[in-house]
Amino acid sequence: MGIIKAINLVHEYIKRDEDNNVSDIVRALDDVNIEVEAGQFIAILGHNGSGKSTFAKHLNALLAPTEGTLVVDGKNVKDEKNIMDIRKNAGMVFQNPDNQIIASVVEEDVGFGPENIGVPTEEIWERVDNSLKAVGMTEYRKHSPNKLSGGQKQRVAIAGVVAMEPKCIIFDEPTAMLDPNGRKEVIKTAHKLNKEKNVTILLITHYMEEVVDADYVYVMEKGKVVMEGTPRAIFSQVDALKEHRLDVPQVTLLADELRKSGLDIPKGILRREELVKALEKNMAR
Ligand SMILES: Nc1ncnc2c1ncn2[C@@H]1O[C@H](COP(=O)(O)OP(=O)(O)OP(=O)(O)O)[C@@H](O)[C@H]1O
Ligand SMILES: [Mg+2]
Repeated sequence: MGIIKAINLVHEYIKRDEDNNVSDIVRALDDVNIEVEAGQFIAILGHNGSGKSTFAKHLNALLAPTEGTLVVDGKNVKDEKNIMDIRKNAGMVFQNPDNQIIASVVEEDVGFGPENIGVPTEEIWERVDNSLKAVGMTEYRKHSPNKLSGGQKQRVAIAGVVAMEPKCIIFDEPTAMLDPNGRKEVIKTAHKLNKEKNVTILLITHYMEEVVDADYVYVMEKGKVVMEGTPRAIFSQVDALKEHRLDVPQVTLLADELRKSGLDIPKGILRREELVKALEKNMAR
């Protein structure tokens, strides 16, 4: 069984007026089925308001399902006694690193979480060492987070999550506030944690380029999963993605245009090198 299993998951936000009468119901998750195996790198795409963050908050038991079932690491989120375990096993990284960093020295910030849950001092330092190494920030351990770049700050925030040793890390648009270099640093770090520490990754993003190396992709719209498949299968469907108000990676779009103009180029090109190869074949003909 998968580490995350959502079965017909529904979440409704209920708004009430001054008299406590229900004034509005927003069905933010509408019959969502998502399954993630331990060790996978999963991406979730979707336009604004499609329900991505609402789903993420369920994985950490910050929100409870209105209907349906969600099991995280074999534990049903509906059962109160599982909540501490679920929080421990699902770490969250958010958009703004400034909201996630608390201490004035990098290494103290990374050690804060483990200290808070009573990890013995010696082990805290071991975890801090390992986490900083995992995100490539060891040389900044004595620095003040304020002076770091956005990408570096976000990597410190990630180290703080890694120090809690979760089985799964959910990244909710972790690169939205970063420049292109910062974005690359963060995505590279997520893949490194996935490969080297076998952490299951869920990446929520608006940037199509960040999804190319995921194992599997879900596309959400209006609370529903509307597409799912490997990145190649998803990005082969340029028109369907446009319908869901999503882009495709630029190189995929270019390959699509070239095919439409008559060149023999396969669907679902994801990387520049693949396009170059396909063009070379056309020229050799
Ligand atoms: N606390 C809340 N109360 C009421 N409605 C909410 C609340 N949070 C989100 N919603 C609504 O639920 C729907 C899904 O929102 P959600 O934040 O999950 O989407 P999202 O895919 O993460 O969007 P974005 O890309 O903008 O982050 C939207 O219609 C949103 O307005
Ligand atoms: Mg969101």
